[in-house]
Amino acid sequence: MDVQVLLAERVRAAIVKAFGAEHSGAEPAVHRSSFADYQADAALRLAKPLKKPPLELAKTLAQNLDTSGLCEPSGVTVSPPGFVNFTLGRAFLESALASVARDERAGVPRVAAPATVVIDYSGPNMAKEMHVGHIRSTVIGDALARTLGFLGQRVVPQNHVGDWGTPFGMLLEHLEDLGADRAASELSMGSLNQFYQAARQKFDGDPAFAERARQRVVLLQSGDEQTLARWRTFVGASLRYFSTLYRRLGVLLTDEDVRGESFYNSMLPDVAADLERQGVARVDAGALCVFFDEFKGKDGAPVPLIVQKSDGGFGYAATDLAAIRFRTSELSATRLLYVTGAPQQQHFAMVFATAKRAGFLPPAARAEHVMFGSILGPDKKMFKTRSGENVKLADLLDEAVARAEKAVREKNPDLDPGEARRVAEDVGIGALKYADLSSDRIKDYVFDWDRMLAFEGNTGPYLQYAHARICSIARKAAEAGIVVTDATPLVLATEPERKLALELGMLEPVLALVERTLEPHKLCGYLFDLASAFTSFYESSPVLRAEDEATRASRLLLCQITKNVLGLGLGLRGMAAPKRM
Ligand code: ARG
Repeated sequence: MDVQVLLAERVRAAIVKAFGAEHSGAEPAVHRSSFADYQADAALRLAKPLKKPPLELAKTLAQNLDTSGLCEPSGVTVSPPGFVNFTLGRAFLESALASVARDERAGVPRVAAPATVVIDYSGPNMAKEMHVGHIRSTVIGDALARTLGFLGQRVVPQNHVGDWGTPFGMLLEHLEDLGADRAASELSMGSLNQFYQAARQKFDGDPAFAERARQRVVLLQSGDEQTLARWRTFVGASLRYFSTLYRRLGVLLTDEDVRGESFYNSMLPDVAADLERQGVARVDAGALCVFFDEFKGKDGAPVPLIVQKSDGGFGYAATDLAAIRFRTSELSATRLLYVTGAPQQQHFAMVFATAKRAGFLPPAARAEHVMFGSILGPDKKMFKTRSGENVKLADLLDEAVARAEKAVREKNPDLDPGEARRVAEDVGIGALKYADLSSDRIKDYVFDWDRMLAFEGNTGPYLQYAHARICSIARKAAEAGIVVTDATPLVLATEPERKLALELGMLEPVLALVERTLEPHKLCGYLFDLASAFTSFYESSPVLRAEDEATRASRLLLCQITKNVLGLGLGLRGMAAPKRM
């Protein structure tokens, strides 16, 4: 149940009652407030059309408000310049929270009419090591897939891997030189960079090899069976390696979600022909191009989207156009999300505009570029290793876990070593993912081990620790033979209890916001607020040593609901919630 929606309905009714049906479309403008629980800004917005001072309008609104069941009469106040403030009634909060307590989804309903949402994320290139940019795409995409899926949407992940193109010529020749078995074992061990660099070196230094590589591209593109078999070896080994990284990262992607660039090869000539027939694309200097009024280069000359190069080759754009057509027609998607970096903004803007013109993207479907900024090093430049190379995801994960193990042992020296190692895996990987998810995705962020592994602040370890601490309270209660059920009466008598209860009711609107804005950091902000409200509650309100049995039971139930919501939230981040830390 979304309290904001309930209050907005009441405010809307009051607007109509006080000012007439012609104002039924006016915005109630209800939101959380630091002065009360909620605040409505409707009067401020009505001041202009009604030509009256907002404070007077706010008073009239308050007189016409029916908040029965939500607030006590004293819970509605007016303050300058024209706010209507709401303090929710205790009875309402208690019963609202009871329904969260009884529901394993913490009161979040599933959407009534699920939409098919394609989420295009991760998309590593087979020829290269997954780099930091792919971590962002993988982690953000996974969080969105989990959240939208939880809300009941039909999520179809698509891993648009780079498994085609000219680099494969040199890679396949290098594979030929090594022998398929040795190459496969090198690749699946994650030596993608070395493999690529070795091939590159030969390509640059050995003209005969370079020529063979060029011939190999031609063979690959013409569908030569032996070449395709080698290509499959290469792609298969790389995918096996990526999939070990996905498992370790705890993301949902599986082999079934892989639909790489090569999948669309056979569709490309038809896509090109279709665009040309419809007049969406035209041949310019030998290349098939789409022109736009809105995309111009620095010199003011139009920048076209190239569908087919003058040598007949198809590139990234053609593949993406074919993918849109496939996703809307074959997968019946009505929402298409592309989780890639900000540098691809123009590419997707052009691809989406072309797809609209060509009818690949019907009016009922919308495509959105869920773009993100870069990960920066401490020097505020692109995050690189000391020797200036891209950071290997696998190395990053190892380091995260090693550092987390140190942090966990310091925090809790009593944890047995085996458990400390297991917990470190959860905490290290969780911290890495959480650092990424908790920052506004559009912005660049600075990669900082100490900050992401801190047990204070808006971090993964802080939330996991809050969760583990509640697990320990529950264990102690169980040892003492104290039992609570979801039917235990809730008593929200003190301010910290009220504040915690208010936060516990916020999961639904927060998830709706994440779904609308595709901004996972909003959920992190909420989980942090919730954990903070819990900390204030816990520090001020004895639980196991509460003054009477009813209070103790109620507070224990509050702990339990908090644990569930935190656990759910961590799960939607793709993070583990260890019971002990
Ligand atoms: N392979 C691409 C890259 O590494 C990402 C693919 C994104 N998805 C897409 N449909 N273009 O940049």
